[in-house]
Amino acid sequence: MRGESVFDIAIDFYGDMRDDRISAVLQEVKGNSANVLVLDQKLVPWFPLHVSELDAIATRTLDAGAELKSDHPGFHDATYRQRRQMIASLANQHKHGSLPPLLEYTEEEIATWRTVYDNLEPMTNKFACRQYLDIVAEMRSEGVVTRDRIPQQRDVSAFLEEKTGFTVRPVAGLLSSRDFLNGLAFRTFFSTQYMRHHSLPLYTPEPDLCHEIIGHAPMFADPDFADFSQAIGLASLGASEEDVKRLATCYWFSVEFGLCREEGEVKAYGAGLLSSFGELEYACSPTRPAGGKLEAPAIEAWDPWVAAHRSYPITEYQPTYFCAESLQEAKERMRDFCEQGLKRPFHARFHELSQSVWVDRNVARSPP
Ligand SMILES: [Fe+2]
Repeated sequence: MRGESVFDIAIDFYGDMRDDRISAVLQEVKGNSANVLVLDQKLVPWFPLHVSELDAIATRTLDAGAELKSDHPGFHDATYRQRRQMIASLANQHKHGSLPPLLEYTEEEIATWRTVYDNLEPMTNKFACRQYLDIVAEMRSEGVVTRDRIPQQRDVSAFLEEKTGFTVRPVAGLLSSRDFLNGLAFRTFFSTQYMRHHSLPLYTPEPDLCHEIIGHAPMFADPDFADFSQAIGLASLGASEEDVKRLATCYWFSVEFGLCREEGEVKAYGAGLLSSFGELEYACSPTRPAGGKLEAPAIEAWDPWVAAHRSYPITEYQPTYFCAESLQEAKERMRDFCEQGLKRPFHARFHELSQSVWVDRNVARSPP
């Protein structure tokens, strides 16, 4: 080697091999190097690179967004269905950069909200994690969440943005896991604005504003939880179908049904629990309600490697919950899993100032 050093240099750039300027650069590099290896671009499923590109996925709701199944409590209520269509169409018109639409809620909707609020408050006081309770107290004292008025999505979004940079944007209904998780990469939470049907105020077969505002929103004001959610989102960008499924399953067992330990007790941080007083008690109560037919659920230590492969029911209480030692621990484990547990062709980083995602490999996005 006569004393000279040998280096391997990797250069990652966007370019087209048919471009004369690219060929000229390559020829020059080849003239000065012992061996030049040109790797092809890797084609990955489309993903947004800038927060404004979420507009392209926000309207891709499953089941046309406002269509109700025949077993939905509001299926035979023409007025309710019309109201849902109106709220869905406002959500579908929403564009990045504008505020979520202001909705004038009806007396009937406000009464449903009050019923949900009154039933959940004593249960969350008992079984919600400390972070949730602290944030809800602040939202109440700032008038963002009140018992007698349904919170406006734009006010909830402004509150969260000030805390962690998370924002809420309207969506007409359920998105695919990929689209929904992609939003989290940009610290954006897709959220519905319609109310469940008044005939069954303590039940909803789908996410509604009570689930979003009481269950989800407060936790996005916690920095660890916000980072945790964004880590799942960033890992979902351009990911394979299998990896999206793993991430969505982790999301289910954490953001929806996650537990954490607090001074020896089990507390909830997942929105599916925080917005369901029955399941909240079932998951967190150290003793099962007397005479109940339900068996105690299994509680396992939070481990995304295990959770990612676990199947789960969606219409009944979970037989198993995953419990983290703390929200910080939950985040660190999730990050480890996103770094090492997936077959990712690249890593994505969020640049807050430009609201853009940067990737570390030469990837091409397939058409949306
Ligand atoms: Fe949810």
